[in-house]
Amino acid sequence: TRRIILDCDPGHDDAIAMLLAHGNPDVELAAVTTVAGNAGIEAVTRNALAVARIAGITGVPFAAGAGRPLVRSVEYAPDIHGDSGLDGPVLPEPTFDVDPRGAVQLIIDTVMASEPGEITLVPTGALTNIALAARIEPRIVPRVREVVLMGGGVHVGNWNATSEFNIVIDPEAAHIVFNESWPLTMVGLDVTHQALATAEVRERIAAVGTRPAVFVGELLDFFGATYLASQGFASPPVHDPVAVAYVIDPSVLEVVKAPLDVELAGTLTLGMTVADLRRPAPRTARPRCRCASTSVASGISWSTRSHRSATP
Ligand code: BDR
Ligand code: CA
Repeated sequence: TRRIILDCDPGHDDAIAMLLAHGNPDVELAAVTTVAGNAGIEAVTRNALAVARIAGITGVPFAAGAGRPLVRSVEYAPDIHGDSGLDGPVLPEPTFDVDPRGAVQLIIDTVMASEPGEITLVPTGALTNIALAARIEPRIVPRVREVVLMGGGVHVGNWNATSEFNIVIDPEAAHIVFNESWPLTMVGLDVTHQALATAEVRERIAAVGTRPAVFVGELLDFFGATYLASQGFASPPVHDPVAVAYVIDPSVLEVVKAPLDVELAGTLTLGMTVADLRRPAPRTARPRCRCASTSVASGISWSTRSHRSATP
């Protein structure tokens, strides 16, 4: 069983990621931390606690994190997630409160109290908390088994032409996280735009009939409508659970090792995750990171397998 810290901004797909992490026996939630992104920090934290109640998650510490990016002004995504960050379902009142230490200290304490290599960080929002934790307690970096994040993409964007929301809203934090020495796998838009909640997927979820299944149906009704209206998707891409699915079963995605960095200086490309896929790799290139993909990039057939269980 892999122990993970889910650092999220629920968020319809973040909520589904949390349900998957809680419901699958091969991963265990060591902590859940929140970060501003899809909505403000109070809203996404409340949403996280409501999802915990629906899922029946108990005994796992939840903590609220950064309310704004390191450098930039805060940006939310109401066109996709509504003003609350989780519009659609009626949310229950939380049954427990957040950990008073806050997200950054909880991440540090959880990693330092665990065996080296035990904890995998799974960020599904902006990387603000993870960057702060790495700076405040650098000893966490070699103790973390891996960072498996949803964000970025190999040369595909959604918030601007080149850049994905989680990365571009706090590019400086992403730059810190991508340049630390821990192993990092980027599960980006090129993969998650193929993890679609089609009518068939939604029927299968509805057939389960449990409270969480009904909740996921309500989430996907709202998420599907906003994705159709704002980005023209016939079925919504369910990004965040794909990162959790990869931790559960790495064979669901093809990954390649490649130098990967975050653009901080571009006027048109701020927040772009730049993957160097040249082959043979240039001598100076340091391939530390891995990008997950199911696509073919730059004429290099560097991945082919489709997501086997990446849909919810
Ligand atoms: C990412 O942005 C958020 O709106 C989603 O929750 C996901 O983490 C996709 O770009
Ligand atoms: Ca998210």
